[in-house]
Amino acid sequence: MSNPQIKPQRICCIGAGYVGGPTMAVIAQKCPDIRVTVVDIDEQRIAAWNSDELPVYERGLDAVLETTRGKNLFFSTDVDAGIVAADIIFISVNTPTKTYGEGAGKAADLKFVELCARKIALISTGNKIIVEKSTIPVRTAEMIKRIMRENCSENVVQVLSNPEFLAEGSAIQDLHYPDRILIGGEETESGRQAVDTLASVYESWVPSEKIIKTNLWSSELSKLAANAFLAQRISSINALSALCEVTQANIDEVAQAIGRDRRIGPKFLKASVGFGGSCFQKDVLNLVYLCEHFGLPEVAAYWEQVIKMNDYQKRRFTKNLVKTLFNTVSGKKIAILGFAFKSGTNDTRETPAIQVCSDLLEEQGLVSVYDPGVKREQIESELNLVNANSNNLVAEDDPYSACAGSHAVVILTEWQEFKNLDYQRIFSLMEKPAFFFDGRNLLDFDAMRRIGFQIRGIGRV
Ligand SMILES: NC(=O)c1ccc[n+]([C@@H]2O[C@H](COP(=O)([O-])OP(=O)(O)OC[C@H]3O[C@@H](n4cnc5c(N)ncnc54)[C@H](O)[C@@H]3O)[C@@H](O)[C@H]2O)c1
Repeated sequence: MSNPQIKPQRICCIGAGYVGGPTMAVIAQKCPDIRVTVVDIDEQRIAAWNSDELPVYERGLDAVLETTRGKNLFFSTDVDAGIVAADIIFISVNTPTKTYGEGAGKAADLKFVELCARKIALISTGNKIIVEKSTIPVRTAEMIKRIMRENCSENVVQVLSNPEFLAEGSAIQDLHYPDRILIGGEETESGRQAVDTLASVYESWVPSEKIIKTNLWSSELSKLAANAFLAQRISSINALSALCEVTQANIDEVAQAIGRDRRIGPKFLKASVGFGGSCFQKDVLNLVYLCEHFGLPEVAAYWEQVIKMNDYQKRRFTKNLVKTLFNTVSGKKIAILGFAFKSGTNDTRETPAIQVCSDLLEEQGLVSVYDPGVKREQIESELNLVNANSNNLVAEDDPYSACAGSHAVVILTEWQEFKNLDYQRIFSLMEKPAFFFDGRNLLDFDAMRRIGFQIRGIGRV
């Protein structure tokens, strides 16, 4: 694999999750000459990828799979065979926040990445390019290279960093039309050749001017930096939303006014109940840990505030709700519309809904949840994990059943279908006063008030 002119023929991706599955499906779609195998130790997940009930909900994903699965895209639990056959091996396993020992609660847990590196070192023969697709702390490639060097000296291995920037909910669109592809490699002749080889895969559909080639450490750090900047924008607008609520300013108007400044831009300025998802919190905490590790406490404290503000926003939301319901929700039914961390996905990892529902259960509320994209069992098992009062919890298949008899309805995910519910009917099904808390500022407040709702949003009256 040392000649950059030769396109790779076989790709293996370890990890069939939200990133590995969709990313490899698009590579297979755009590179019909490459045989792509996605491997995972999770048998259920692989079985789901090989069925009609995909484990990941993304618009357009089924269409991509229709043209690739079984042709040049395969999902398998045979990790060894996938590794042995491949020219390029992507590592796309989970890198959660460490929950034990040194760095617990902040550092990334790299044990799954290390296991992959050791497995590759143990069984692979010939020359390989290993690609870090997982989000990892800066200088992780050093660890992978060392494991390779000290365990398989006869092989020539190049380690590249190629972080994934897709956003859940628009993954297929993002993969088809990425803002950029970032590839970091060693600054040596063979390092540059490996970078060019990987770039040749993306060049099948991405214009070459969008492919950025950097050194390894810049590429690794850029992914953490990008997520930190995005999370920081949300915490910044949410911080201002609290000020709006006590000054009668309207955060949506403020966001529009500042977003028109081209230096600021309009995106990621939507105030909400807080950010969620598997990445933002984990990656910012990882950045905080790295700064502390490298002796930069002021830099660490700066980024840590982004997380603190998000926690504050989630708790503030529930506190306001309880206060509005005459200081108690005990024995009152509260309907939650939306549980996924954002619309367009079934992913509930770190969703603000977990915190809000958990706080309401703690207050002895009777919580009834509906989400159009998340299965009932998934909602119930997520909340059972964090709350002992889950006898007071029910997940519903229908929004109207969820809202019937409730004292308050709460929107926590910005599903567009919530705009089109029959709110007159919901109002008639509720206890009065009919309180409504729009945690995404999604609805037309004037129209809701005309129906009779007592509605509150984020950062606005
Ligand atoms: N989810 C996102 O939107 C997103 C976006 C960009 C980057 N990332 C990063 O990509 C990485 C993967 O994220 P994800 O959301 O796809 O995670 P995920 O948990 O959905 O999938 C990871 C998969 O890796 C598998 N796995 C773990 N160890 C393994 C091993 N030793 N051998 C084989 N399979 C193994 C797990 O079984 C799991 O199915 C993370 O580092 C994440 O930070 C995620």
